[in-house]
Amino acid sequence: MSNNNYIHIFDTTLRDGEQAPGCSMTSEEKLRVAYQLERLGVDIIEAGFPISSEEDFQSVKKIAQKIKGCQIAGLCRASMKDIDRGWEAVQHSESPRIHTFIATSEIHLKHKLRKSRDQVLEMISGAVKHARNYTDNVEFSCEDATRTDIDYLCTAVDVAVRSGATTINIPDTVGYTIPEEFAYIIHTLVKNVPNLDDVILSVHCHNDLGLAVANSHAAISEGARQVECTVNGLGERAGNASLEEIVMGLSVRSDKKPYGFGINTTQIYPTSRLVSQVTGVNVQPNKAIVGANAFAHEAGIHQDGVLKESITYEIMTPQEVGIPSNQIVLGKHSGRHAFRDRLQEYGYVLEPEAFENAFTKFKALADKKKYVFDEDIEALINQEFLRSSDYYEFTAASYSGGTDSSPEASVTILAGGEEISVRETGSGPVDAIFKAVKKATGLDPRLENFSVSSITGGTDAQGEVTVRISDEGVISQGQGVDTDISVASAKAFVSALNRLRWRKEHPRRGSELKGI
Ligand code: KIV
Ligand code: ZN
Repeated sequence: MSNNNYIHIFDTTLRDGEQAPGCSMTSEEKLRVAYQLERLGVDIIEAGFPISSEEDFQSVKKIAQKIKGCQIAGLCRASMKDIDRGWEAVQHSESPRIHTFIATSEIHLKHKLRKSRDQVLEMISGAVKHARNYTDNVEFSCEDATRTDIDYLCTAVDVAVRSGATTINIPDTVGYTIPEEFAYIIHTLVKNVPNLDDVILSVHCHNDLGLAVANSHAAISEGARQVECTVNGLGERAGNASLEEIVMGLSVRSDKKPYGFGINTTQIYPTSRLVSQVTGVNVQPNKAIVGANAFAHEAGIHQDGVLKESITYEIMTPQEVGIPSNQIVLGKHSGRHAFRDRLQEYGYVLEPEAFENAFTKFKALADKKKYVFDEDIEALINQEFLRSSDYYEFTAASYSGGTDSSPEASVTILAGGEEISVRETGSGPVDAIFKAVKKATGLDPRLENFSVSSITGGTDAQGEVTVRISDEGVISQGQGVDTDISVASAKAFVSALNRLRWRKEHPRRGSELKGI
């Protein structure tokens, strides 16, 4: 077991998180999230899987070049060409890491890899040694570790350590383990693998049984000193262990978990919002730490208690995780100076032209809405400036309807710079708007889900619409924000169409990429 009591936070939102259906991000968006992860204070950013596509390679490379405050890891299978490509991308970082993996469970060996145990041990040794030729920061993962025979797992880890791995990661790839069992696995490794205390022991838990965070904590108690996790728990299937839940568990229960970590907890909420807006994936309202209801007290007895003394029903404060306190920050009389100061507090430094655009949009919002809150500004910036490479751009929408007339909508968009205006009728304003957008773009995806929530309180609040669409097996999501929910719906739909188009143009090689 590593002697020190510092828990390294390894964020894989940009790799495992992004692998979830409908969560794809462009390079530009990934870089923006990476800057925020740096601000949040994560130790390692897993920026992608460089061999999986040219796009992934370029975005890992860009993040490695730009981010200075974190180690940058690239995922590679245990193959020489993956590792060469991975290194090509991460070498630009001041602190690069190669993360190589292969499955070790009998199930994977037999059905996926079709290799013997000895062959896999040879591959582990070959891959780790090859990676060590490039860097002394090499992580090795035993995929499906929790369904691996424990003696063979010890041997595989031993081979990786002897070959030069500096971090050993034990993934619960299919979210199958339970805390007592995972604690036993980590305990057995610590007890039986020689020299394991010379490396950092890591865990990577998936949430199929809703136990990813509990399993990660169980492993920390047995000596794990790196936890792999994602913002909002994004990830394949039921997701990965959620970063915010792990960190706040360590923070709030430091009496039982006396470990250090480098996260600035007040950046948790801004990071969660950014990831939600970039991916278009909503956070469920009852999600721990960052859900809309995480600090809401509905029951009278609770409200009474909290008003008298918040500790009665609150184990942490919203301020600790950076939730804005619904303060009015700016109004229609606020000038450029106040607006610029506010943006700087969020860490946005905009070029002069972008600043002027943002200021114009802020003024338009302040005209519609009496009070502009922190959340409004954050939504405005995230919505307007993230996807500068979008093909479709929403320009305008209007509709008419009501109890006595049939709903009709007009929508104007730019498609590749060309302006298209379309009018359509529908069963309601949203139906009419969606039909108009479909006609304008010539696209006809299936609408899988539509939801609307308000960003702040008040009847003049901005509505945030999230849509999930699918077409030919490709899923995408989009969000739109506006004081008018029909306009927000049009923005969300256009945003989802941009993502759909982008994903179709940048197909992952996931299905072609074999285990090895
Ligand atoms: O879940 C998993 O096993 C992984 C590995 C590649 C670390 O994501
Ligand atoms: Zn995973």
